Amino acid sequence: MGNILIKNIKGLAGILEENDTALKGAELNQLNTIENAYLAIEDGRISDYGKMEDLAGLLDWNNIEVIDAENKYVLPAFCDSHSHLVFAEPREGEFVDRINGLSYEEIGKKGGGILNSAKKLASKSEDELVQDGLKRLEIIKSYGTGAIEIKSGYGLSVEAELKMLRVAKRLNELSDVTIKTTFLGAHAFPTEYKENKEAYVDLVLNEMLPQVIEEKLADYIDVFCERNYFNPEQLERILKAGAEAGLKPKIHVNQFSILGGVGIGVKYNAVSVDHLEELDENDIEALKGSNTIATALPSCSFFLNIPYSPVRKMLDNDLAVALATDFNPGSTPSGNMQFVNSLACIKMKLRPTEALNATTINGAYAMEIANELGSITLGKKANIIITKEIPSLNYIPYSFGENCVERTILFK
Ligand code: NIG
Ligand code: FE
Repeated sequence: MGNILIKNIKGLAGILEENDTALKGAELNQLNTIENAYLAIEDGRISDYGKMEDLAGLLDWNNIEVIDAENKYVLPAFCDSHSHLVFAEPREGEFVDRINGLSYEEIGKKGGGILNSAKKLASKSEDELVQDGLKRLEIIKSYGTGAIEIKSGYGLSVEAELKMLRVAKRLNELSDVTIKTTFLGAHAFPTEYKENKEAYVDLVLNEMLPQVIEEKLADYIDVFCERNYFNPEQLERILKAGAEAGLKPKIHVNQFSILGGVGIGVKYNAVSVDHLEELDENDIEALKGSNTIATALPSCSFFLNIPYSPVRKMLDNDLAVALATDFNPGSTPSGNMQFVNSLACIKMKLRPTEALNATTINGAYAMEIANELGSITLGKKANIIITKEIPSLNYIPYSFGENCVERTILFK
């Protein structure tokens, strides 16, 4: 397989003739679409597209699978640039604790949260984690995801952090979903380091990081910069060491409080700064004119009942914005990028077009894979979604909770 002609497409959306940088501000509101279209794929790459009426010359191709889209839409597969998809167990017990009145932060303080996930992960084998990960990848693929970033951060020991990243790497070999990996040793302080936090940062930098580099396990480095977690000085120390080791940052900042992490991320040339539920003018100024992508995670706000990132304001300030799931067992037990589109429109007042660009091409930029994925562009990998029969593309965010994807076609 690899040579495919998709014909009778109601709308071929997400066409970009060329793209050099992530879409910024008003550019996100432009989603180029050809109605009544075809798409040709050769050896897994987009080789041609156009209006059905111009298709004639292509019909004598040999060895070609013809898919009749029967008046459905075709668009680039989603690029989910922030997830914690490798984890041991769901945490629905904490979900009930929160309903009964505890806050996410309170649960974290009493050893639940990330530490709870770390305890469960320690006792699972690499093979078990791979099997669970593959199942999750199949589910998100059925909702249209074709590429995803996966973080460590539920290990919190040398052995378990390496195990998580090895699992993510194996998933990349076994799945047709494209995977980028991020080292998040600095996700939380293990209980035994509570009184000596610098010693844990030393462990991350002196024991974990060298092995991550040695085995080439990560593309990026991440830190959870937040009160009760890693402070800005620790963030900077870790990003500096990451830069020296050749890892660019993709960081957790401003989920609950503004500590200056956005500016530090920009200073270290972060590919993205993520969460941003809280954001002030200094942060916006720091992001303006930088190459750092602001990534919002609306499903996390939905699940934790916390503020939504002010994405409308970011776009008005001409920032490059991506949207991702944050799929993880604590704050976002969903890897559904269609739901992210719905929340972006319903809660953040994005237009459907803006949300689609933020979850496709800008997601690809937030993983540095936009030369290969994220848009319908000649020569790019043909990672695409064929929708179900829907009246318009606006129907995807509108019909929240419904799966509008009939088929996701992926190549590696
Ligand atoms: O991105 N905020 C930090 N980390 C994850 C949640 C971790 C967890 O609760 O397991 C997040 O929301
Ligand atoms: Fe996260």
